[in-house]
Amino acid sequence: METVDPNKVPKVRFYNGAEIPAVGLGTFGSDHVSADQIAEAVYQAVKIGYRLIDCAAVYGNEKEIGSALKRLFDEGVVKREDLWITSKVWNSMHHDVRGSFEKTCRDLGVDYLDLFLVHWPFPNSHAPSVSVDSRDPDAVPYRHRDFKRVWAVMEDLYENGLCKNIGTSNQTIAKMKLLLSTCKVKPMVNEMEMHPHFQQTDFFNFLKKNGIAAIGFCPIGSPARPERDKTATDTVPIQDPVMIKIAKAHNVHPAVICVKWAVQRGQVPIPFSVKPPKFTMNLKCTTEDPLTDEEMNEIKSIDKNNRFIKGQVFLWSTAKDWHDLWDEDGTIAGW
Ligand SMILES: NC(=O)c1ccc[n+]([C@@H]2O[C@H](COP(=O)([O-])OP(=O)(O)OC[C@H]3O[C@@H](n4cnc5c(N)ncnc54)[C@H](OP(=O)(O)O)[C@@H]3O)[C@@H](O)[C@H]2O)c1
Repeated sequence: METVDPNKVPKVRFYNGAEIPAVGLGTFGSDHVSADQIAEAVYQAVKIGYRLIDCAAVYGNEKEIGSALKRLFDEGVVKREDLWITSKVWNSMHHDVRGSFEKTCRDLGVDYLDLFLVHWPFPNSHAPSVSVDSRDPDAVPYRHRDFKRVWAVMEDLYENGLCKNIGTSNQTIAKMKLLLSTCKVKPMVNEMEMHPHFQQTDFFNFLKKNGIAAIGFCPIGSPARPERDKTATDTVPIQDPVMIKIAKAHNVHPAVICVKWAVQRGQVPIPFSVKPPKFTMNLKCTTEDPLTDEEMNEIKSIDKNNRFIKGQVFLWSTAKDWHDLWDEDGTIAGW
């Protein structure tokens, strides 16, 4: 088995001094990879050198991942403090963030998290596998007074040392500005969609200016996401001629170029695969054969502002369409 020395994998430093590995393993099975397969991938990935695992209660596999972690600890492969475990409070648990944190810890078999995120800024939820057009009658627009209450519990978990770092996910500049104006503890990081066709440069720079790091989800463009999450205008970053050309020059798959680009740009990609050759390469590629400045610039030029994870299922009854979730004109819709 090929292994990668975790000490050679770059790290990203948070404003509080914590250092997160520059690449992690995603654990969302997109409805077609089972919890057991993902748990086995976590076990193998840690054995080959992964230290960051991106979990979430809503992925429905934290118990299985907990069993994999127990095997790793029992076999002496790693100690708890060697790992960086991220999880997220799901939308339907905004009223009980502490309860969600405790359940995640029980399921994962740990007594603290390295990073706990608010998965979405809305309390809106949906049944599994619903059509993208369905709207939950209880869904509401963003309300900062409610989010402030959620964030206060996150701050409490941080101040009590139960979560070493706290952050947000699926935020926008407008919502982040509000949070920064009212929070006691600034988020250390925002987890957001980022790949060569959706680079979110303005938001990424805004976060950087405010000392907030960025974790990039769907770093490869999530080519295997469910069909219901694809629209006619979606593109495929790993089929972009520029990505293919650079991949050929480095003798790797374009997916690997996505990971290299993300790490060299300064965000933390969390690519998903349960296949050892793929996840091994995604880690190894951060330790060798970097992209040139020219290649980085070429990738910069192929941004298409093409959001794939649009969040349609979180829309409230009077919302126009998914753009309302993303504050594209700088104002928060429906608020
Ligand atoms: N915070 C949030 O709201 C949020 C939202 C979405 C996702 N996430 C997180 O981000 C993670 C990643 O997102 P994702 O799973 O949607 O998409 P992704 O990582 O962009 O894409 C995964 C796909 O890329 C392929 N792939 C991975 N490495 C490869 C390689 N080296 N060569 C060729 N193909 C490769 C995989 O192929 P195979 O199928 O063959 O393995 C899989 O189909 C999730 O698992 C989850 O942890 C967070």
